[in-house]
Amino acid sequence: MRILNIMKNNYICNCDRPNFENSYSYWEDRNSTTDEKDIINYLINNFNLVNKNILHIGIGNSLFAQMIIKKNFIYGISVSSNEVIKGKNLNLDNYKVFLCDKFSTNFCDLFYNKKFDVIVDNNIKSYSCCKISYNYFIDNLFKMLNHKGILITSRKGMNWYKNIVPKLSFSLKRLFHYKLKEINGNSENIMSIDEAKFISSKYSLNLKFDEKICFFEK
Ligand SMILES: C[S@@+](CC[C@H](N)C(=O)[O-])C[C@H]1O[C@@H](n2cnc3c(N)ncnc32)[C@H](O)[C@@H]1O
Repeated sequence: MRILNIMKNNYICNCDRPNFENSYSYWEDRNSTTDEKDIINYLINNFNLVNKNILHIGIGNSLFAQMIIKKNFIYGISVSSNEVIKGKNLNLDNYKVFLCDKFSTNFCDLFYNKKFDVIVDNNIKSYSCCKISYNYFIDNLFKMLNHKGILITSRKGMNWYKNIVPKLSFSLKRLFHYKLKEINGNSENIMSIDEAKFISSKYSLNLKFDEKICFFEK
């Protein structure tokens, strides 16, 4: 039985990439990264997160939603169908998850009439295929922020860069299945603080950062 509504991803660049409409495992059974835990702690300690519209890019095991949901509304996306299934199976009120590549035009279509108070992406640039799709993503991302809304990321995530490719794997639980594996990425996908400063000035945002997190405020 198919439980995901899957649409074909479209792109403005011609880069080779996995077909993310296929069924892939990735981070659904792994522990949350310390990057994400830093963001969760920062949000909990510094923001009054009540009745907020939140977008989580890269839901992983959905710990973020479980810790932050309370009276907030969270949309989450991932390129791993198994992460999305896990998120759906939590049956959290106000948590909607989608299989969607943030670098695709589908991402903009999915959220074209939505505005967020908080957008969380601990790997803004880490997996980008090329400048064309990355710039397209960033342009649209900031349009999705409400006035005073923030896009928050992790300093560790800013320094991380990988490509992900499907690999046939075997486990007793899942037998033969496809998993997204990380392989060497492009070091140009490191986001420096200077680049963050450039972005904040280009989009007229306030930039704030410490040793763990970095955020842009509209
Ligand atoms: C390393 S995992 C981290 C999961 C979780 N954010 C954490 O920190 O524990 C990377 C996450 O980013 C998602 N991801 C990678 N590339 C993506 C893309 N192009 N669009 C949307 N999500 C993407 C993956 O599906 C996965 O959920």
